Amino acid sequence: MAAEIFDRLQQILDEIKTASPRNAAEVEQFRIKYLGSKNILKPLMGGIREVANEQKREFGQLINTLKKTAEEKFQSLKTAAEQAAEQADAQQIDLTAPGHPRPLGSRHPISIIMKQIVDIFARIGFTVAEDREIEDDWHNFTAMNTPEDHPARDMQDTFYLKDSTHLLLRTHTSSVQSRVMKNTTPPIRIIAPGRVYRNETISARAHCQFHQVEGLYVDENVSFADMKQTLLYFAQEMYGPDTKIRLRPSYFPFTEPSAEMDVSCFICRGDGCNVCKYTTWVEILGCGMVDPQVLENCGIDSERYSGFAFGMGIERQAMLRYRINDIRLLFENDVRFLRQFTSAL
Ligand code: PHE
Repeated sequence: MAAEIFDRLQQILDEIKTASPRNAAEVEQFRIKYLGSKNILKPLMGGIREVANEQKREFGQLINTLKKTAEEKFQSLKTAAEQAAEQADAQQIDLTAPGHPRPLGSRHPISIIMKQIVDIFARIGFTVAEDREIEDDWHNFTAMNTPEDHPARDMQDTFYLKDSTHLLLRTHTSSVQSRVMKNTTPPIRIIAPGRVYRNETISARAHCQFHQVEGLYVDENVSFADMKQTLLYFAQEMYGPDTKIRLRPSYFPFTEPSAEMDVSCFICRGDGCNVCKYTTWVEILGCGMVDPQVLENCGIDSERYSGFAFGMGIERQAMLRYRINDIRLLFENDVRFLRQFTSAL
């Protein structure tokens, strides 16, 4: 009989040791079962009467061990449950907490100007054409009427790719003209923004990389008057409705006749200032009628079609508009500089 009581107590001890309540409610059940006022040990206490005298001490010790083990186990379960609850609380998202504001980016001044130019031409039916910056010399020079021995090649110092005689970094976006003309039957009406490269010594005024926007219009009966009107529309959209334009004769190998276009100074509006150097005019682009030879080079019948093209530098316009006095600032991406354009566009 006594042996059975000992077995039973031993069994309860094992139960206590292996119990693994999974939540607060089960921990509470554990406490009630082993430590509560009607705990499982109570009815067994009376069993001491059946235990032989020399075993009574052992019986008492076993009861104490049971109580102690249950108490210890309960304490550690309680702490663990509390910790788990705290952790769960911490992981809960407080939807009413204020957010962490993220700094708002801004457009780069070059992108602002390019986008404006592209948008203005898009409104009169020009679509964006983009092409490679690593170009071959056929598309950059030869097709554009600038053969190997042509002195005009000296006008542009070119970066050639290492170990290559014909791959180069395009020196102007006019290379896109030849790409598009070769693959498209007129009418062609494209605007080509992009980055170009020239081997220039870097200074406050010049950089070895800069941006241009090229325009090309090829169709039947395209005239110089069409070009002039298109460029006037552009100048007035870009620099205000009172803007005047002036075309000065110039030379480019790929246009004939060629011109450079000035706009009336958008800073002083005619009073004279140091941006226009007191001339009241600011030069912004090169243009001309596409040379018939260029059309032929690109597989377009020059008897049937004619066209005009223009190309403009972006850095210069950005520098004039925002009074940036060093071109290098446009390529350094110093946030203190870039932040100043947040409000623009
Ligand atoms: N490609 C010329 C330049 O880089 C600009 C230009 C483009 C001139 C198209 C005429 C026609 O200076």
